[in-house]
Amino acid sequence: MAASPPEADEIFQPPASLQAEAHVKSFKEYEELYQESINDPETFWRRVYDGFYWKSPPTGPFLDYNFDVRKGPISIKWMAGAQTNICYNALDRNVEKGLGNKIAFYWEGNYPSDQGKITYSELLEEVCRFANVLKSLGIGVGDRVAIYMPMIVELSISLLACARIGAIHSIVFAGYSSESLADRILDAECCAIVTTDGVWRGNKLLNLKSIVDKALDICSERKHAVKKSIVVRHLSPKDEVILSGDANGEMADDAIAKRPCRTLKLHWQDGRDVWWHEVMQTADKSCDPVWMDAEDPLFMLYTSGSTGKPKGVLHTVGGYMMYSATTFKYTFDYQPDDVYWCTADVGWITGHTYVAYGPLANGATSIIFEGTPFYPDAGRFWEVIDKYKVTKFYTAPTAIRSLMKFGDEHVKRHKRTSLKILGTVGEPINPEAWLWYYHVVGNSKCAIVDTFWQTETGGHVITPLPGATPTKPGSATFPFFGIQPAILKDDGQEIEGTGEGYLVFKKPWPGIMRTVYGDPERFETTYFKKFPGYYCTGDGAHRDKDGYIWITGRIDDLVNVSGHLLSTAEVESALIEHPAVAEAASVSHPHSIKGECIYCFVTLKQGEQFTDEMKVALKNMVRVKIGPFAQPDFLQNAPALPKTRSGKIMRRILRKIARGDRDLGDTSTLADESVIELLFQFRPSDA
Ligand code: WT7
Repeated sequence: MAASPPEADEIFQPPASLQAEAHVKSFKEYEELYQESINDPETFWRRVYDGFYWKSPPTGPFLDYNFDVRKGPISIKWMAGAQTNICYNALDRNVEKGLGNKIAFYWEGNYPSDQGKITYSELLEEVCRFANVLKSLGIGVGDRVAIYMPMIVELSISLLACARIGAIHSIVFAGYSSESLADRILDAECCAIVTTDGVWRGNKLLNLKSIVDKALDICSERKHAVKKSIVVRHLSPKDEVILSGDANGEMADDAIAKRPCRTLKLHWQDGRDVWWHEVMQTADKSCDPVWMDAEDPLFMLYTSGSTGKPKGVLHTVGGYMMYSATTFKYTFDYQPDDVYWCTADVGWITGHTYVAYGPLANGATSIIFEGTPFYPDAGRFWEVIDKYKVTKFYTAPTAIRSLMKFGDEHVKRHKRTSLKILGTVGEPINPEAWLWYYHVVGNSKCAIVDTFWQTETGGHVITPLPGATPTKPGSATFPFFGIQPAILKDDGQEIEGTGEGYLVFKKPWPGIMRTVYGDPERFETTYFKKFPGYYCTGDGAHRDKDGYIWITGRIDDLVNVSGHLLSTAEVESALIEHPAVAEAASVSHPHSIKGECIYCFVTLKQGEQFTDEMKVALKNMVRVKIGPFAQPDFLQNAPALPKTRSGKIMRRILRKIARGDRDLGDTSTLADESVIELLFQFRPSDA
């Protein structure tokens, strides 16, 4: 689903009303600031630095780095030696500035009448209390804490409490399976986990604690004991919670009209499991922040890697704080009266940077949304926008495309007059979806910001600025301040002017990841070895005649399913664990809503039949090993796989077969050409 430049370049000017109040009011102003940020990064970022509280200044150079593997190990240091605390900057400082009574978060639950709100002062108090709870459990600087929670305020409280005491949070999206959660806990050697009894997602009740329990069992089997599991009592008091057994519930359709309640059975392991509300009761409401070095770790967040083993992307305190705050301020042109809503889950980087840290660092009011775009109906987003008078809205192309399918009526039923800026993130947005977002959702009066970035970049790296950048549907446009992109040919030559190639960056910015947790070698190999001297994104990009950048999608073995990166290797190793499977290969395949989906070729062992039951069992294998969102859309029988004489699977050919494309290109390196015809024969008719 890669966006490609439209035939006639239609250009959309920034809305005049927005431009008047914007931080950057014209493209010329953007260009001047951008030039400064590249030519004199220290002056540019020092101004940002001065907007924060630092306990003490940098002890060495403001920026110190090596981006070239040929000159030694990769290292990136911004403001090393300076001491600060991101939680202090996000909360205490806003309270000191008089924002104590301002709403930090509105909470909108899955069920429309479930709601809440918390001010900056209240949030600070809760964070301090939870920080004291963590301390009382023996958790301190450098300890890793896993967080596996739905979109509730306690999730933000947990991450801020970790940041306050210098513990490193590792949030795992609460859609991952027990096994995936266990892998991440083990890799980071987390000593504690924060979770929730259960959560309603649409009309399904999920027993999160039972998923965590299983994960902790796996950890114990592998000789790692997680000492504490802190459990938020999130379900309504009407939902009966029984402390034994194990069950997932489902809400009957006729129960949706009323706030339903169901029974959730929980196992309770005394000594390990503690209720959040019980430990919070006695916790003191003040807690001094621990002053951290700018280059101390703040959090790790796992992202898929080509080899299948997830990488713990590590971000540090100072640079991430400055970058999340600055990108939030400029890309969403933050104004004090904004009500901002990012629909991403905090379990992904978008939620870390643009639900939690970025908005809080700016003293913004934003929404934490627990629900889905389709519950109770496909008008939910627009209903919530009207309810809170949302001014800036940020979501994913996959959500836009799926809502488009339900028709314009769902949108038009709601006013949406408060909206000013509409953002998208996660994957290339096709011009059709862009135009629908612009004309239908935004009534042709909002700026669209298509923000390209990655878990690794910490914040936006290619993005329009809403008051400054004329946009083209499907293009992420131009680099953010401090970002110096280049497009490289296969041989590493930079493409000047128009052309397509590998998207790389030439210099570090404050929010760039610092390493892969526990594996600096992998950090270098993945991002810096292919083109020495550059950070390699793994994405392709095209630069058009006007200098606009168009992201064309991943150029490695990662698949972007609904804005979530998955590695084909990860899916294959899940399939291979099924006893009937001899071999499996998976490739990316276009999908009208998800952008891309996973298409698997499976070779069964002799005597096994590729029945419908087998397909269900295989899909289930992936759900259990990785999580429901990773489930392949297509599985096809592959009596054999196309391989080179040296035994390497030719995925290029598999991608074509999946699409029914017979123009296979060069097949001369194939060991056995006859497999091709067989694979075309077995291709499912709906692919
Ligand atoms: C990959 C990073 C960064 C937040 C969510 C995903 C793709 C992201 C865009 C965009 C085209 C995009 C890239 C990138 N991507 N935003 N606006 N246009 N592609 O984070 O899981 O680290 O995925 O998402 O392929 O490399 P992530």
